Amino acid sequence: MSERTVGILGGGQLGRMLALAGTPLGIRFRFFDPSPDACARDVGALTVGTWDDANALCRFVHGCDAVTFEFENVPASSLDALESIVRVQPSRLALATSSDRIREKRFFQSCGLAVQPFAEVGSAAELDIAVATVGVPGILKTRTLGYDGKGQRIVRDARAAQSAWESIGAVPCIYEALVPFDREVSIVAARTVVEGAAQFDAYPLGENVHRDGILHTTITPARVSDALALQARDAARTVAEQLNYVGVFAIEFFVADGILIVNEMAPRVHNSGHWTIEGAVTSQFENHIRAVCGLPLGSCAPKLPWNAMVNIVGCVPSPEKILADPACKLHLYGKAARAGRKTGHINVSAQSERALIESLAQAEQALAHSSC
Ligand SMILES: Nc1ncnc2c1ncn2[C@@H]1O[C@H](COP(=O)(O)OP(=O)(O)O)[C@@H](O)[C@H]1O
Ligand SMILES: [Mg+2]
Repeated sequence: MSERTVGILGGGQLGRMLALAGTPLGIRFRFFDPSPDACARDVGALTVGTWDDANALCRFVHGCDAVTFEFENVPASSLDALESIVRVQPSRLALATSSDRIREKRFFQSCGLAVQPFAEVGSAAELDIAVATVGVPGILKTRTLGYDGKGQRIVRDARAAQSAWESIGAVPCIYEALVPFDREVSIVAARTVVEGAAQFDAYPLGENVHRDGILHTTITPARVSDALALQARDAARTVAEQLNYVGVFAIEFFVADGILIVNEMAPRVHNSGHWTIEGAVTSQFENHIRAVCGLPLGSCAPKLPWNAMVNIVGCVPSPEKILADPACKLHLYGKAARAGRKTGHINVSAQSERALIESLAQAEQALAHSSC
């Protein structure tokens, strides 16, 4: 097949960066999104429609060689219709597993991975039992549809649990022990299957700092032992094999007392992998497109030993201020500024940890100077 077309469900920045990475491979892109302002429209044709409109979705994928997601919550009924027409990756199993926090945690346990103590909350009575069993402090999270810390409440006192649950709509939740972590890390990995043979690779483990529940910076490699980094890679391989996964995915972990605890996974390219655009031989976006097209993966090796990313949230900086620092690579998503909204990121790379920390500090300063 010489010319391929890939359809992407969701037209946000992830879709945009997937198309930017896949276009040099001779692949065309189109997007489906409920918003006519979806920022991926700059890099491919945009179809505007709702996720439950199976007919519109079927028309959208007509002529596509492969379909993938940047938005994981497409209703099952729509997916049923799509899968009868075209290859959709990652699989239903991967989406179903990762879109429900309880199912996801049980899956990790079945893979032999350590998770924080947790309990299911479907009623006020179950909440009381969950808090009594898991203890405080804990964190209540909606089972589905949460992202960037949305739909979460910390519970420090058992008496405050019911009001916390009501404040997130008294919907089905997971209640987890609050992990006193030393670090948060994530692994971004890729798996493809070419003529029946699976190929797996992973980027170096990233170390993540969040602000107000939103990822702020990623530094890679994470400052953990080689043994722990290898354990994270092995966990990713196990998860990928169990799900017969095709594409890029990420697993987020807590590191507490030298132990790796799995928090959650994302069945898609991940914010903590944005550094790979300039930092790795093959970016996470290109590898995802390769995988969903049934092509071999490119190397996940970093070009320089140290890499970092800082997110731009809630503002759009003037490029002049950021580009004044020749070490900074700027990625703006073409989105209007809104509180808590990711509008871009900056990547930096370096030969040493010290040089990287300096570059990262400069990038953050440049952002502050551009009133970001
Ligand atoms: N059980 C926990 N213990 C400690 N911190 C947590 C816990 N769960 C979530 N957090 C914090 O909140 C952030 C967002 O939670 P997460 O489970 O990753 O949901 P999402 O990224 O889907 O919003 C985490 O990166 C972490 O900083
Ligand atoms: Mg998360």
